Amino acid sequence: MVGTYTVAAISGSCGFLLGGTLYGYYLCCKAHKKKKNVYETSKLVDEYMYLHYGSPQASTHADWYNNFQIKDGFDFPLRCAIFCDKYCPKEPRSTESRRALDIGCAVGRSTFELSQYFEEVIGIDYSQAFIDQCLLLKEKKILDFSIVSEGDIYEKHTTTLSSSVNVDRVKFQVGDACNLPKTLGKFDCVLAANLICRLYDSMLFIKRLPELVKENGILVLTAPYTWLTSFTPKVGLLFYYILFSFLMILGEGMVICAVGTFFSFLH
Ligand SMILES: C[S@@+](CC[C@H](N)C(=O)[O-])C[C@H]1O[C@@H](n2cnc3c(N)ncnc32)[C@H](O)[C@@H]1O
Repeated sequence: MVGTYTVAAISGSCGFLLGGTLYGYYLCCKAHKKKKNVYETSKLVDEYMYLHYGSPQASTHADWYNNFQIKDGFDFPLRCAIFCDKYCPKEPRSTESRRALDIGCAVGRSTFELSQYFEEVIGIDYSQAFIDQCLLLKEKKILDFSIVSEGDIYEKHTTTLSSSVNVDRVKFQVGDACNLPKTLGKFDCVLAANLICRLYDSMLFIKRLPELVKENGILVLTAPYTWLTSFTPKVGLLFYYILFSFLMILGEGMVICAVGTFFSFLH
């Protein structure tokens, strides 16, 4: 009898805790969705233009970049596209077009670069300002942008799309990785670079992935796993920690575990 009461009491508190966590999670997601999107500002658009298309040589910071040997920070989206091509299987006898999805594409460098290897490439981002910039670059192929050099002093940059980019293969659209349209179809390659720990609900995105990747297709995830609470509500993560057990408390382990349920690891 005592045991029964004890169990009932514990399951009651568990139910209360879980219910509280779920409700807190719901409120947090709602608040996060309403919050102003930091990626919508023109300053961030220009900073991402520099991150995606800039080069250390063309900057007044060139010495600084060279001294600290951080020039590898440049061209990261290009290296992601090359990585996708390297690992994505090529069926020599297939007549089907190869498709790639760049989700959280920002100002689109990987999307454009993927067009060298895939006949159809879709870049999706939550930020209207980023997608507008992608569409402008697709149309003009050359764009100016400015970044802060020091204080209120700005330096001007120009980027030109490489001649190997095939803009006719590329489409951009605004979309939410946690609620992607059902009509997207399947892809030979899905790239999510530095996105997973910027989402208001990473698990909603992960759960959708098996539907998006073709059989024998690849998923490429890169992330610093920062899990900043300004992007990903902690209550949401706590909920997943409970689901995925305390061993998975490190965010990367949680993602590997969740993705590993549907995919086998290549690299
Ligand atoms: C850290 S940036 C990474 C951008 C790019 N993939 C890269 O590696 O440079 C995160 C990007 O994810 C986008 N993003 C954030 N939440 C999103 C969501 N729910 N759906 C789609 N994109 C989202 C942001 O607008 C931003 O462009």
